[in-house]
Amino acid sequence: MTTIRPDGERGISTLDQGRSANATRLYGTTPPGGRDGLWRRLRERHGPIAPVELEPGVFAWILLDYHDNLTALQQPHLFSRDTRRWKEAVEGRVDLGKTLPMMSWLPNALFADGEEHIRLRAPIMDGIGGIDMPSMAWSVRHIADELVDSFVIRGEADLIEEFAAVLPVLVLNRLFGLPDGYGRMLGDLTTSVFGENAGRAEEAVERMQQYFAGLVARKTEHPGTDLVTRMLEHRSGLSPSEVAYTAALIISAGHMPTTHLIGNTMRTLLTDEHIRSTHTDARLSTHDLLDHVMWTDTPFQVLAGRIALQDMRIGTAHIRSGDALFIGIDAAHQDPNVRSGHPDPDTGLASGRRAHLVFGAGPHSCPARSLGRLVAATGVSVLQERLGGLRLAVPPEELCSVNSPFLRGLHRLPVSFTPGRPSDPPSDRIRQREQVPALAEEEEPPEDLLGRLLRWWRGL
Ligand code: HEM
Repeated sequence: MTTIRPDGERGISTLDQGRSANATRLYGTTPPGGRDGLWRRLRERHGPIAPVELEPGVFAWILLDYHDNLTALQQPHLFSRDTRRWKEAVEGRVDLGKTLPMMSWLPNALFADGEEHIRLRAPIMDGIGGIDMPSMAWSVRHIADELVDSFVIRGEADLIEEFAAVLPVLVLNRLFGLPDGYGRMLGDLTTSVFGENAGRAEEAVERMQQYFAGLVARKTEHPGTDLVTRMLEHRSGLSPSEVAYTAALIISAGHMPTTHLIGNTMRTLLTDEHIRSTHTDARLSTHDLLDHVMWTDTPFQVLAGRIALQDMRIGTAHIRSGDALFIGIDAAHQDPNVRSGHPDPDTGLASGRRAHLVFGAGPHSCPARSLGRLVAATGVSVLQERLGGLRLAVPPEELCSVNSPFLRGLHRLPVSFTPGRPSDPPSDRIRQREQVPALAEEEEPPEDLLGRLLRWWRGL
């Protein structure tokens, strides 16, 4: 039951009071075991909402209850996604150009409300809705097989770096109709943008901007049947610059969550004997396994903030108009009111239910959940089929979590397995079924911005 109500009485705690010692830091090193215990402790101490510090001196609320999180996602008239309304930015304590990427502002669908959101989202929805999913499934399978081919004879691999981090970006890059070399470069750039080396991150941000500007310029010059061309021609009338920001959003929204969904699912299979056996016995399908992991080891633990559009009370907290509220996905999934449901009689798990918040809800909910699920399910299945005797190469307690308040996943997932053989070259039948024509590496990239960027990357 929701605890959000209009503010008719004096609240007990405000964010300003949170500025004192009350707020919990979300920045800094992620504890090795993730943040599980943190949400429980916050709930015990504060109730359904707690003050947090996002970066030194920057405060927000985090919602902990499932139903409050759902309400905040579904009620844009109360909770805006436009960070320019954030009191910290309006009052000059935060520079939106320099703050956390999830709280900055860009001219894309993620940061827009109302009619503007509809205009910016429509080309994404129509573009993704136009994907021929059966052909895409063949394509994803083929890319996954090629990635496994590159390490299968070694008998050991890092399933994050060599597989989970690469598969989604190669798939997304094919939506843009570009050869895989560009996708590998893009994967490197996004990994550096989200990495911990500030110098490399800054350069990567600049190169990413060049990438998308170059992509839009090339598609304007040479239209194709790809997603960027379709967005350029869409009736919403996006400008070339808006298309570039939208293409960048598609990559940044799609890459890392899919990577960590694959990584966290493989970690679960490799460390949880009960899950592995129910899955192997076919009592838990791959899609139900993904849902179980999305409940218990969610790739998004916290979602970017919403801005309160009016004063309100949540629990005992007094929310002021202009306060930022973070969506606590992982905390919501541990809400005792939703986790105490009846377990599945076959598996003993609270799985198979799709009401988790991993794909969001309301107007900004993920427009590509089927594609994300397809890539993750195919990736997990291919790894299981192709890597016999798969096991962790390090003790589970040595697996290191990524350092992010938002994402939950692993830096590396070192495994060993029985060395195998590369798969046969794809048959013509498979090639024909792929949505995009043969995508062999271009020998000589064209002399445009994108081509020059690829040459720079190959030279590194
Ligand atoms: C397992 C993989 C994925 C997960 C868990 C995921 C999750 C999410 C979530 C939670 C949101 C809502 C954000 C918010 O409300 O603030 C979102 C939005 C979005 N996602 Fe996904 N996503 C996944 C895959 C993808 C893929 C593959 C793509 C691209 C093809 C994509 C494109 C987007 C876009 C463009 C938005 C913004 C929509 C808007 O603001 O209207 N996502 N995603």
